[in-house]
Amino acid sequence: MTVAPNSSQKTAPQVHVFADKAALVAAAAVQVIELIRDAIATRERCTLALSGGSTPKPLYQAIAQADLPWDKIYVYWGDERYVPATHADSNAKMASEAWLNHVDIPPENIFVVPTDTDSPETTAERYQQSLADSFQAASESEIPQFDIILLGMGDDGHTASLFPHTLALNEFDRWVTVGNKDGQPRITFTSPLINQGRYVLFLVAGANKQTALSQVFAPAADSATYPARLIAPAGKLTWLMDADASQGLPTTVERTVH
Ligand code: 6PG
Repeated sequence: MTVAPNSSQKTAPQVHVFADKAALVAAAAVQVIELIRDAIATRERCTLALSGGSTPKPLYQAIAQADLPWDKIYVYWGDERYVPATHADSNAKMASEAWLNHVDIPPENIFVVPTDTDSPETTAERYQQSLADSFQAASESEIPQFDIILLGMGDDGHTASLFPHTLALNEFDRWVTVGNKDGQPRITFTSPLINQGRYVLFLVAGANKQTALSQVFAPAADSATYPARLIAPAGKLTWLMDADASQGLPTTVERTVH
């Protein structure tokens, strides 16, 4: 199946290019804080799914400095490594140290992926149930709609823990499933859950992302090879990238250069 990034979504993605990673992160912080405030003003709460990796860490540090009604913000993870929460590779550890440990967000508002289970499958099932509970979804057909979903993209075109040519790419019924990176289990949102998001924001920096970006934005390429192509939300899709990464964009792709 080949899905161009904007072939099935209702609005074309917005692409913003920044001189460097620092400028990208600064702009992302302004946008995310504004989206958080808008969600709270509209729905009296904001549900936010975080991405892992290295790019978002300075963003989380910047958000921690904002004056926000933390009790109205509910934090989840779009993917997590199947490691203890204290492990150096834990996405929850990174976000907690960069942000969540430094603000008065109620612990019950933080939905860490429960990796202290007997298997990744159990973890995925439990995390899906915690989503169902916190979004009060009566069935799998009522896919939770996050206000904001933050995503990164690997140099292989993966996003969340939807890695090329893995079974997770073909999971369209579950909201949370087991991903696989080189044999290492991951817990990940599925593409249907991500595509239900109101605002989906990719943060992509570095020249090493050029090739993958060129394929994700190509008119036709294989989404099994470049899974970020699967992300085509009914809501708003925004790509924030630095100049280095943007060199991979096809010239036909409209962008705002800052
Ligand atoms: C993870 C992430 C992953 C990440 C990309 C990009 O758990 O590693 O969720 O999808 O966003 O690999 O990572 P960088 O931001 O470090 O390039």
